[in-house]
Amino acid sequence: MTGDSLEAAWARITALGAAPGASAIRPLFAAEPDRFARFHARGAGLLLDISKTAISDTVRDALLDLARAAAVEARRDEMARGALVNETERRAALHMALREALPGAPGPSAEAAGTLEAMRVFTEAVHRGEIRGATNQRFDTVLNIGIGGSDLGPVMVGRALWRAGDPMRPIHLGNVDGHGWETVLPQLDARRTLVLVASKTFTTQETMANAHLVKRWMEASVGKLGATAHFVALSTNMKATAEFGIAPERVFPFNDWVGGRFSLWSAIGLSLALSLGWERFRALLDGAAAMDRHFLSAPLAENLPVLLALTEAWHVNGLGLNRRAVLPYDERLRRLPAHLQQLEMESLGKRVRLDGSLVPRATGPVVFGEPGTSAQHSFMQLVHQGPKPVPVDFILVAKPDHSHAENHRILLANGLAQAEALLMGRDAAGVEADMRAAGADEATIARLLPHRIFPGDRPSVTIVLPSLDPASLGALIALYEHKVFVLGALWRINPFDQWGVELGKVLATPLVRELEQGAPSPAHDSSTRGLLAEVLKLQS
Ligand code: F6P
Repeated sequence: MTGDSLEAAWARITALGAAPGASAIRPLFAAEPDRFARFHARGAGLLLDISKTAISDTVRDALLDLARAAAVEARRDEMARGALVNETERRAALHMALREALPGAPGPSAEAAGTLEAMRVFTEAVHRGEIRGATNQRFDTVLNIGIGGSDLGPVMVGRALWRAGDPMRPIHLGNVDGHGWETVLPQLDARRTLVLVASKTFTTQETMANAHLVKRWMEASVGKLGATAHFVALSTNMKATAEFGIAPERVFPFNDWVGGRFSLWSAIGLSLALSLGWERFRALLDGAAAMDRHFLSAPLAENLPVLLALTEAWHVNGLGLNRRAVLPYDERLRRLPAHLQQLEMESLGKRVRLDGSLVPRATGPVVFGEPGTSAQHSFMQLVHQGPKPVPVDFILVAKPDHSHAENHRILLANGLAQAEALLMGRDAAGVEADMRAAGADEATIARLLPHRIFPGDRPSVTIVLPSLDPASLGALIALYEHKVFVLGALWRINPFDQWGVELGKVLATPLVRELEQGAPSPAHDSSTRGLLAEVLKLQS
């Protein structure tokens, strides 16, 4: 790959995106009766349909050329071999080794297997009642304290898969806001609660504040000595976990080649193993591993993560659509958009390339979402009729885990209908005909016509899961993880660092003191000084 060939491939995408009619989708369907057949792919049990986009054969060829010019396959194989693909932090990115041994990275794979085995042994001992709390009661609740990647993945998977009757009840404490703790507190019986302090660094201000708060509560409930039986750490920082008072045998480690937003498969997933049971946690990992194998072996044109990434590149850079909505049509996936927000925006919210130069084009889009059908009654108005299209990911689950067949039919029908409505729109002739049929007079038709037209040609992709079982969910998450990696390669940015969150953290430290002492520093800008003074005045 040369920078020149990559730039030439990008120039082709830009040119295709600027061509007249580039964003039209309906003509593609009209011209190609077999469009769905040619624009969907399958992998790891999932189906990905990208036919409802303006990707023509010509555009697809250009996008595949772009992937080749960016050496996506070589970059992918480097990642799987444990190369330092996180170049700014001089680290590997080996989350795939957490789910299945990677032949090219035997050391990390063995290390990951060792931690997994320790997690399994611990989980099963807790479930059998061999590991108990200070008052000899069995643990029935697992409280995970963590934030960002040490929270969002476990929360999202827990909400998706946990069912009444599962081995333990999962509760998550993420935000440092004391109201969060006040909300979970009534649900907890200290004697039966196992606390996991989940923090890769074990220095994150919010997590440590919550961990100390919970430690004081536990000590007040079961005594200072007894409290140690209730704490476990999930971390890379053995020194800090020891200082916190957690015995080394109660620390489940992982390595710095596990990025926070890719960490739910590591020790950070212990709350999932404990709450769902080992078999289902293992099935989650196996599903992700199936997607890994697909990503590592399928040709570019049939490779789901590659196709999803190229579709995004087309939308962001070809058509200038730098936001995307994620609509899972399954209430259990309600925290998936939050997980993807971190996965995608922390990874791809970059403006500098690996070589230090500025990226000469837009990078990661704004990602937001809600489960359907609820989302239809909030932001979908803008998606249908706002001036600028918002590409959508629809996620459909074929078989529900309930027996309310009519509800599920309505749910699926709405998901399909939204995508169809975005594609087809409703033109003036159709609206007029509808209004006449409903008995509207000519003046009313003329007045309302522009408001009731749907422009159509609005892009979406659809992902279909057979059911929301651990393996399908694992594959779905891994699909998005690899998509992020491919986009990083296309834009030549590092998807594995997150320097952008540091400055706010640094500035918060002196502000905590100023709030405590009631003395704003004159060094702040006038807005920060004014707001600080206002808060202090209101608190006094
Ligand atoms: O928000 C920045 C970040 O570093 C995330 O990448 C990470 O997931 C989160 O903070 C929590 O970090 P830690 O696990 O070290 O507490």
